Amino acid sequence: MPYQTLLIDVRDRIATIIINRPDKLNALNALAKTELNEAFTEFKSDREVDVVIITGAGDKAFVAGTDIAELTSLTRESGKEFSAKGQKVLDLIEQLGKPVIAAVNGYALGGGCELALACHIRIASDRAKFGQPEVNLGIIPGYGGTQRLARLVGRGRAAEMILTGGQVDANEALRIGLVNKVVPHAELMDRAGQMARTIASMGQKAVGLSLQAINASAETSLSEGEKVEASLFGDCCDTEDFKEGTKAFLEKRKPAFKNR
Ligand code: COA
Repeated sequence: MPYQTLLIDVRDRIATIIINRPDKLNALNALAKTELNEAFTEFKSDREVDVVIITGAGDKAFVAGTDIAELTSLTRESGKEFSAKGQKVLDLIEQLGKPVIAAVNGYALGGGCELALACHIRIASDRAKFGQPEVNLGIIPGYGGTQRLARLVGRGRAAEMILTGGQVDANEALRIGLVNKVVPHAELMDRAGQMARTIASMGQKAVGLSLQAINASAETSLSEGEKVEASLFGDCCDTEDFKEGTKAFLEKRKPAFKNR
């Protein structure tokens, strides 16, 4: 389906989604959020898609935030709805059941940083810059940023980023655990593609169940999380991929996973 704010390419079981509003530094307007919701809803059930890579159009920005022009008329009630609606889109990404890799090619500010945080893996160009500058606008991050950033980098560092509204460059983002790796700008999409292909070559049942278990770690105590893990481990043992993976190892050959 053609989108107005997104470009989508699916090949070799990997979907690449480009947020395409480069003249506005890919700021997320209402249409972009609706289209992201539609695209990820389709990816969730699309049997041809195992891994998703998300990036921004142009050379300057991943996403420079929510579209500030659309914020001005918000009231207490509509602001709450606005935040909840954005959270829902990013929750869909986090709970897709398939890995989503953020290839952060430039500014990831406000909603852009929050979008990257909702992805499972973040690869940053050496030109990327991260920040939650909402306090400059008299608001707080509203798409899960206060929650996910604190969980990822710790409350102290999250507080520093959110309260000062300052930006951190790619190397600082790596140092504080905000991104998985930093790569030269020109290599960003190749490196994200390499990682996506590695993941796509695994048994996708186990990949999906791994994500479910990892996501549970943000919601539960250790003992509850371990119960979830044991149950999902049991589910794996009921799959054809498990039989094939273990058999292939013992027969010293590569597994031919059928993702069942
Ligand atoms: N919402 C709406 N428009 C945005 C935007 C946003 N979040 N971020 C950038 N833009 C627009 C600018 O208004 C400008 O549009 P124009 O050419 O029609 O005037 C265009 O994108 C280019 O941005 P500009 O500010 O000229 O680029 P810059 O290189 O001077 O600065 C930034 C880059 C990222 C530092 C700056 O754009 C910025 O601070 N953006 C807002 C970041 C933010 O507060 N995000 C959180 C929102 S909740």
